[in-house]
Formats: sequence, structure tokens, C-alpha cells
Amino acid sequence: MIVFDKVTKKYPLGNTALDEVSFEIPDNEFIFLVGPSGAGKTSILKLLLMEMRVTSGSILVDDKDISAAHFHGLTDLRRGIGVVFQDFKILPDKNVFENIAISQKVIGIPNRDIRSQVKEVLKMVGLENKEKVFPVQLSAGELQRVAIARAIIGDRKIILADEPTGNLDPKTSWEIMKIFKKLEGKKTIIIATHNTDIVNSMQKRVFVMKQGKLAKDHKKGGYEI
Ligand SMILES: Nc1ncnc2c1ncn2[C@@H]1O[C@H](COP(=O)(O)OP(=O)(O)OP(=O)(O)O)[C@@H](O)[C@H]1O
Ligand SMILES: [Mg+2]
Repeated sequence: MIVFDKVTKKYPLGNTALDEVSFEIPDNEFIFLVGPSGAGKTSILKLLLMEMRVTSGSILVDDKDISAAHFHGLTDLRRGIGVVFQDFKILPDKNVFENIAISQKVIGIPNRDIRSQVKEVLKMVGLENKEKVFPVQLSAGELQRVAIARAIIGDRKIILADEPTGNLDPKTSWEIMKIFKKLEGKKTIIIATHNTDIVNSMQKRVFVMKQGKLAKDHKKGGYEI
């Protein structure tokens, strides 16, 4: 469960990115985060990753107050969250296997287990047999599949995606969205997006942000600003 309770984020120069935003997301829910540029979507994701702290209000993740000054679980928190970005952020000098395996290596998972985990997530994203391929040899859509595989490896419970289809053509965007859809009900998924077609046709829960406020929370809805 993720809870935002009157979360306000002001940047140093006085910009208010989030203004008393409150919501609750039960486990394994699928959420689209929409709203015009500057509305606060990325700020919500960054606060969840603890890339920055709240100015006021609180954020609970599985009953832990990650916004509290005494919260020391940053490493564990980040291990439980997979992240997908608009520009993929795939390491160019590492092959597909290495890109996906890296987070598991860091925490000391045995090589044999990593190998089977990578196989499993590559199958999930439809990239079997691409383990040895280097990023330059992949299309943008394939790179984003690798990024999703990297985000879901190790059984992470929360997946955050910031405009994951922002650099993709409509057909490829749909293919990527279908992968997220396959994860539905198994993980909590929050996708910030400007893709109105996808949001309207998938009919998931939608948070509409407007100038730092949560303007609407559609239980099963479309893109509406
Ligand atoms: N590092 C920063 N310093 C100061 N202000 C910032 C910073 N990052 C974001 N902001 C401001 O906070 C507000 C919310 O930004 P945010 O990036 O969350 O918007 P967004 O909804 O993700 O927009 P987009 O759709 O363009 O990605 C904007 O007014 C932005 O200018
Ligand atoms: Mg953004």
C-alpha cells in the first residue's frame, strides 16, 4: 500500500510542485498519472524513490513512513521498486544480460539464480535469445523492453514508469503497454504518461494532476484534464 497524506513539495526557488496531494494505492493496483507538463507527475515518482524529500505531509510505503526524518530504509525501499524511464537508461557498453542482471549482482544473488531470473524476465518482455546483444543493435522498442525486464527482475512489488512510451511510435507504444498490462494484478504499477489514446482505451485508475494538485481520481477512467 502506498499512501500520500497532504504531500507538499516546494523547490528551493519557491516553485510548488505538489500542493497537499493525498491518495491511497492498494497493492497491485494499476495507475495512470496524467496532467499537463509541470503538473507534478515526475515529482510524485521522485518522492516515492526518495530522490528528494517532502516539504510537508507524509508518504507511507507498506506502513513505513519514508518521509520521516528518522527513516533509514532507503536501500531496502529502492530494492523493492523498479523504474522505467522515457530514455531507457540502458548502459551502452553492457549487453542485454548484463544490463538486466546488474541490480541482482550488486546484492549478491548467486550467478545461477541470476541467469534463471534474467531468462524469466526476458521471456516476459518477449526478448528471448537477445541476452548477448548490445544496446546499439536494438530498436527503441526493444531497449524499452530491456528496461522493463531490468525493472521487474527480483520480484519487485512496485514499478514506476515516467513517460515510458514518450520516445516510441504509436504501435511500439502499444506493445510496451501490453507488457505492463501483463504485470497487472501482480505488482503495483504507476505510469506517468501524456498518451491519451492508451489511457482512454485501457480504462484503469487515473490520477489527473493539475498545477501540483490531484484534480481527479477516476476509478476506471480516461484521460481528462
Ligand atoms: N529541480 C527542480 N527545481 C525547481 N523546480 C522544479 C524542479 N523540478 C521540477 N520543478 C518544478 O516542479 C513542477 C512540477 O514538475 P514535474 O517535473 O513534477 O512535472 P511533470 O508533471 O512531470 O511534467 P512533464 O509532463 O513535463 O514531465 C514544475 O513547475 C517544475 O518546473
Ligand atoms: Mg515529468
